Amino acid sequence: MNLPVDEHPGNHIAGAKLGSHVVLLGCGRMGSAMLAGWLNHPENFLKISVIEPAELDKKYTESDVIAHYSSLDDLANIDATPIDFVVLAVKPQMMAEAVSQFRNMALDKIVFLSIAAGLSCEWISEQLGGNSQVVRAMPNTPAAVGAGITALYAAQSVAADQKEFCVRLLQAIGGVIVLPDEKMMDAVTALSGSGPAYVFLLTEAMQAAGEQLGLPQELSYKLARGTISGVGALLDQDTSDASVLRQNVTSKGGTTAAALSVLMEDDALLKLISRAMSKAEERSRELGK
Ligand SMILES: NC(=O)c1ccc[n+]([C@@H]2O[C@H](COP(=O)([O-])OP(=O)(O)OC[C@H]3O[C@@H](n4cnc5c(N)ncnc54)[C@H](OP(=O)(O)O)[C@@H]3O)[C@@H](O)[C@H]2O)c1
Repeated sequence: MNLPVDEHPGNHIAGAKLGSHVVLLGCGRMGSAMLAGWLNHPENFLKISVIEPAELDKKYTESDVIAHYSSLDDLANIDATPIDFVVLAVKPQMMAEAVSQFRNMALDKIVFLSIAAGLSCEWISEQLGGNSQVVRAMPNTPAAVGAGITALYAAQSVAADQKEFCVRLLQAIGGVIVLPDEKMMDAVTALSGSGPAYVFLLTEAMQAAGEQLGLPQELSYKLARGTISGVGALLDQDTSDASVLRQNVTSKGGTTAAALSVLMEDDALLKLISRAMSKAEERSRELGK
């Protein structure tokens, strides 16, 4: 699959540090999606220490590069290899407790990469006792199949090569875009973070409307789903503006034009999406307080 272009100027990763010791804290849905991608490039890692209370899948435990621990204490008791990166992939409500375990470590050389929604670099740094190097990222659900789009922001204290390595870690689950300002994260959350749900809702709506037009449920389901996934693949391969792609399939006086006249009348859909995303952005700001 042709993944979204990484807008980051340093995509070539020329100066990135390879052979790092990466600790993955939390190996649930997102953590295991990243881990699966990292295994395709084991040369990037000296080792990957996974801290996760549950059992790990055999494909991970059989890998020479991965070691599994049920707690940070277990890791510290068994392995003294200095840690370069800690990827924080636990739920936001578990984060304070999970991160505070690292407070007793020498943190000056460790970069913390958090994928938790709504938690700022400053908040995470505070949990670590202040002055830590924190990178924050917002992935989205298609990451589970390697087709996510992640926005990343690195605090000033993070060196360029460490930021590059974080980009590389996240490229395991799709495209990565580096943000110049952390304040953009709330709008990003409203767009790409929550965005998959808007598209799922559109799929549901098309399916329901198909049924109202007399199509059997199963047929309507398959047509709606196939249309949305096909459009996703097309957008992935054809970089023309979405408006151009839309105009290309809209003949004057045709069926598509008839439908779009409803959706675009008074910018109806645009206004609705805009209202919805403003709500999401507002909520993201509230949750981050
Ligand atoms: N899923 C998404 O689409 C998505 C999108 C954007 C951002 N994110 C962010 O990604 C993060 C992870 O989400 P997820 O969906 O992967 O969650 P998840 O499936 O619940 O995975 C989190 C894992 O961390 C484990 N865990 C909890 N406390 C721990 C600790 N102290 N040390 C080590 N492991 C611990 C959990 O174990 P237990 O189950 O036993 O607690 C669970 O296996 C969240 O912060 C979320 O905001 C997710």
